[in-house]
Amino acid sequence: MEIVLATRNRGKVKEISKKLKIPGLKMLTLDDFKNIPEVVEDKNTLEGNASKKACEVHERTKYISLADDTGLEVDFLKGAPGVYSARFAGTGCTYLDNNLKLLKLMAKAPASKRGALFRTVIAVKLPGEKPVILQGVCRGKIALNLRGKKGFGYDPIFIPAGYKKTYGEMALTLKNRISHRGKALEKAKKYLLKLINKQK
Ligand code: IMP
Repeated sequence: MEIVLATRNRGKVKEISKKLKIPGLKMLTLDDFKNIPEVVEDKNTLEGNASKKACEVHERTKYISLADDTGLEVDFLKGAPGVYSARFAGTGCTYLDNNLKLLKLMAKAPASKRGALFRTVIAVKLPGEKPVILQGVCRGKIALNLRGKKGFGYDPIFIPAGYKKTYGEMALTLKNRISHRGKALEKAKKYLLKLINKQK
């Protein structure tokens, strides 16, 4: 079975392909296809964006597609940036811009009020069917400053519950095991395994 990952984000491709190593499953990425434009993430829920990405990529490639959308929900900011995490600091902003904006907004938040939740929603689109939605969350807190150079996005400022290190300071194998995306991918793996077994 072949599926296409509806992303060009190298950090995500690395995490997803590592987690979804399944015998009989070949993983393609958008780099295997020419002329597929970036899907505009204009829905106001993670589920809406993940479904939209999976459907558009399926439409263009005809392959089973898997898309994810992730948001960081910060308690002190009443759930922001959430679905707007990617462009939190404005159009064309960098990961660093987003992290610095968040740290600035959290400057007055004491240690007890730095709780946050990472949420990943995965959509898997099969021909002729509505996308299947799978979700994973990881609770944690926002660090006081940037720590660690591994990973991507908000990794340097997110400390998962039960750990002292930020995602950015952790080995990828550990992050994958405990993370929001890791948990959602665990569910996706089970789902894909069932599909592959059905096809046998
Ligand atoms: P999207 O799912 O690519 O739209 O991600 C939304 C925002 O969350 C982007 O700014 C990503 O960099 C960030 N993000 C997504 N997944 C992770 C992660 O695992 N760690 C840190 N930041 C992430």
